[in-house]
Amino acid sequence: MTTKIAVFASGSGSNFQAIQEAIDRGELDAQIEIVLTDKPNAPIVKRAEKFNIPVFSFIAKHYESKEAYETEIVNILEEHEVEWVILAGYMRLIGSKLLASYANRIVNIHPSLLPSFPGKDAIGQALAHGVKITGVTVHFVDEGMDTGPILSQAAVEVVEGDREATEARIHAAEHKLYTTTLKKLFADEINLIH
Ligand code: GRF
Repeated sequence: MTTKIAVFASGSGSNFQAIQEAIDRGELDAQIEIVLTDKPNAPIVKRAEKFNIPVFSFIAKHYESKEAYETEIVNILEEHEVEWVILAGYMRLIGSKLLASYANRIVNIHPSLLPSFPGKDAIGQALAHGVKITGVTVHFVDEGMDTGPILSQAAVEVVEGDREATEARIHAAEHKLYTTTLKKLFADEINLIH
């Protein structure tokens, strides 16, 4: 059965596009029902429009609280019968309202081998530490910053002194790993030892 998903993003949206292209190639049996962003001018919006996917944009500070905007988000997700929430560069911590409504149904991708380098600019952190191998992680989302149970990881070799080249490798690894992990997750083929 086709899995109905929502993609949450705040930036470029290359992971969104990789997921949509995998769907279009028939590699992932899912449908992106809605793209949600807290940055109405982010490039993700144009990408979603190109694929004719509806976008819900919101500005957090126009709401009284996280609870208030997440209540609206949950209503929208339920209207679209969304089963899984896929975070792809969404730069906000998920709050208790969304976590309760989509318990164990929210996943994130992070550009490091967690638990190393959580939080912002994981690629910059890896380069600053001089690690030779970094990577990408897909994990369940909990209330922490990049702390939920790990679903899958892939290693990426750092190109020393070259942030752009390292970033390109990381993004290529992300686009592959996210799709293959979601495929297994939706088919109930991932076991967590937790
Ligand atoms: C990715 O590196 C992802 O790991 C991180 O944010 C970035 C989003 O990139 N959480 P994009 O917007 O999908 O191009």
